[in-house]
Amino acid sequence: MAGEDSNNDGQRKTKTRCLCVMAGAGVIVVITVVASLLAVYLAPKSTTVVIKNAKFSTDNRAFSLEHEGRVTIRANLGLSLPSHPPPTELQCGEGDKCYKWSVATLVIKAEEIEPAVECYTISWEALDDFYEPMDCLDLAPAHWYGGAEMYYQGWPIETWNKSMTFYLSGDMYQSLEEWGSVMERYWLSSEGVGVTVSETVPLHVSVNYMNNGKLCFKAAYKNSPYQNVNNVRPKLEYTLCQARDVKTAQQFMMNRFYSKPRGKPDERMIHSPIWSTWAQFQRNITQDIILQFADDIKSYGFSNSQLEIDDDWSIYYGDDFDNLRFPDPRQMVDELKNKGFRVTLWIHPFANFDSDMFREGLDKRYLAGMVSGGCCTATVPAIVRWWVPNGVASIVDMTNPAATVWFKERLRKMQQDYGIDSFKFDAGEVNYLPSNFITARPLENNNEFTTLYADFATEFGPMIEVRAAYRNQEIPVFVRMMDKDSHWGYDKGLKTLIPTALTFSILGYPYILPDMIGGNGYDGVYPDRELFIRWLEVTAFLPCMQFSIVPWQYDQEVVDLTLRYIELHETTVTPLILRYADEAIATGDPIIRPLWWIAPRDKTSLTIDSEFLIGDKMLVAPILDQGATTRDVYLPPGYRWRDENTNEVYEGGQTLQDYQIPLTEIAYFTRQGAA
Ligand SMILES: *[C@@H]1O[C@H](CO)[C@@H](O)[C@H](O)[C@H]1NC(C)=O
Ligand SMILES: *[C@@H]1O[C@H](CO)[C@@H](O)[C@H](O)[C@H]1NC(C)=O
Repeated sequence: MAGEDSNNDGQRKTKTRCLCVMAGAGVIVVITVVASLLAVYLAPKSTTVVIKNAKFSTDNRAFSLEHEGRVTIRANLGLSLPSHPPPTELQCGEGDKCYKWSVATLVIKAEEIEPAVECYTISWEALDDFYEPMDCLDLAPAHWYGGAEMYYQGWPIETWNKSMTFYLSGDMYQSLEEWGSVMERYWLSSEGVGVTVSETVPLHVSVNYMNNGKLCFKAAYKNSPYQNVNNVRPKLEYTLCQARDVKTAQQFMMNRFYSKPRGKPDERMIHSPIWSTWAQFQRNITQDIILQFADDIKSYGFSNSQLEIDDDWSIYYGDDFDNLRFPDPRQMVDELKNKGFRVTLWIHPFANFDSDMFREGLDKRYLAGMVSGGCCTATVPAIVRWWVPNGVASIVDMTNPAATVWFKERLRKMQQDYGIDSFKFDAGEVNYLPSNFITARPLENNNEFTTLYADFATEFGPMIEVRAAYRNQEIPVFVRMMDKDSHWGYDKGLKTLIPTALTFSILGYPYILPDMIGGNGYDGVYPDRELFIRWLEVTAFLPCMQFSIVPWQYDQEVVDLTLRYIELHETTVTPLILRYADEAIATGDPIIRPLWWIAPRDKTSLTIDSEFLIGDKMLVAPILDQGATTRDVYLPPGYRWRDENTNEVYEGGQTLQDYQIPLTEIAYFTRQGAA
C-alpha cells in the first residue's frame, strides 16, 4: 500500500523529480508511524502468560507445558478464532486465566492434585452459533497411546491417520472408518501427560490426519449424531495432567478419572478355551452340527470353558430358537452339559422388524424411537440396518429401566427353559442408533448407550463377554476384541492383536478377550496352517483363548500343538493372569502391559508393538510375520530375563538379534529376581 501511494503521489506532483521523491518518502514515514502505532494499540499488552508450569500466548494461542526443564506438551488452542480483535482478559478464579474473544471464552485452570501431579483444565465456550472450538496437541516429540479400538490398530497412535470424526463407538467391521467398539476420551503421552475430555463435550477427534502430527479435539453439534439435549452452544473442555513418567501418568489418570474392576471374570473362562460356532460354521448351525462339534472337541482331547452358540440360532433376530434347525434346545443343552460343556448363547440388542420381540417392544415402547417426518415425537421405532445380511431392526432402549427389565426377563426365560449358562453379548456400539434417535432418557453423550448395554450384560454374572465398552472399567467381565480378519497384517490381522490388547489395557480394560484364534475367515479368506499356529501361540499368553477355526482341519501336528499351548496357558499363564487380575482389582493396573511399564523412559520400550508383558513377570515375543522363523527380541533394561525355551539368562537393555523361533515355538522370558 505504502509503495502504491507514493507512486500516485509522484505522478500528480511532476514539478521536480526531487520534490516528488521527498513527498513520497514523507508519505511512507507517516504511514509507517501510523502502522506501528496501530500495531502497538492492537497488540495485547503482554502476549504470554505463565500458569504454573504452563505458558499461554494470547497472541497466537500457543500453549505449552514444561516438566523438569523439558517442554512436554505443545498445543495450538482456539484454532479457527479470528485473529482480531484480541481477547480481553476476564476476572476469574485465583490463579486461573480467563479470556474473551468475540466468539468464544477460554478458561485455563491449574491444579496441583498430588505433590507430583499437576493438572490443567482448558475450557472453551462458543458465544455464537457458528464457532466450534478446536484445539490441537502436537504428537511429537512424545509417543501416544489410548483413544479407541481401531481397524488399523497401530501402537503408538502417532502411526494412525484418522480424519476429524465424531468420537462415538462404532462398528469398524461394517465400516473401517469408524472408531471402534471400545473407546475412552483418554490419551496418554510418553512424556508423562494424560489427557481426558469431559463427558458432556460433543467431541470430534482427529489423530495425525494426513501426517499432520496432531491430536485434535473439536466440539460441534452440527453434522454429528450428538443431540444437544440441553440446547447449548458447543463447549470444549479437557484436562491435561503431568506426572513423573508415562506409567505414573497412566496410574494417576485411571485412579482419578476412571474406575477399577470390581471383580474378575469367571475363572474357567480364563483357564480353558471357549469354543465358538461362529468362524467354523457361520450362520449354518443346527442342533446336530453343534452336538457333533462338541464330540469333535472332546474326541481330540480338548478342554473347554464353554461352547458358545453363535449367530444364527433363531428365525427372526430377537426371538426364540428356530425349531426346525433346533428341534429340542433343552435336550441339546443337556447333552452338551453331559459332555462336560457349559453352554452360552449369542445375544445382541436388536429386535428384527419381523420378530415377536419387535411387536411386543413396540407396543410397550421398549425400543428406541426416531423422529419421523417433521414431527418431534417418537411415533416410529428407530429402524437400523445391521450387519449385512442380518436385516432391519430396532434396538432395545437401554435408557428405559422398564425395557431393560423386559429384555432381562426374556433372556432369563431362555436360561430357565433351556439351561443356557450364560451369554455372549454382541454389538452395543452407538452407530446402531439412527441419527435422529429418541430414547426414554435423552443422552448428552450417545456413548452412554454403550455404557448402559455393557452394564446390563454384566448383570448376568462374570461368565459373559461384551465387545463394546465405554466408561465400563468396573465391570468384572471379558471385553472382546472386534472380529479380526484372517490376515497377517495391520489390516485387522495378527499384527493388530498386541496393539489392541495394549490399547484395552491403557483404556482400563484388563480382561482382554482376544478374538478367535486364526481370525474369522471372512470373505472366504481362511487362516492357513502357519497363520493359525502363530495366532495360537500369541493367544496362549493372553487372558483367554477362544477357538472357532478348528485345529483338526489342518493335521495331527496342529492338534498336538494346540493341546500343548492350551496346557501351557492352563498351567503357566493362568496363574499369572489370576495373580495380576487381583492386582488390577486393587490398583487398576493392567494385566497385559507394554514394555514401558517396567522401563517408562526407555526409548525402545515406548514404541515396540510386537512384544508384551504379563504383569511385571513374563515377556512374550511372538513371530508375527509370514514365513519368519527369526526375529529381534528386545529385553528392557534394568532386569535379567530367563529364556523359558533354553533356560539361558540374559541381561536386559539389549536386543537379541535374529533370535531363532521355529514355527512351533514362541519366545518368552521370565524376569529374574523379585517381581
Ligand atoms: C490418510 O487417510 C486418508 C483417508 O482418510 C487418505 O486419503 C490419505 O491418503 C491418508 N494419508 C496418509 C499420509 O496416509
Ligand atoms: C453355509 O451354507 C451355505 C449354503 O449351503 C454354504 O454356501 C456355505 O459355504 C456354508 N458356510 C459354512 C461356513 O459352512
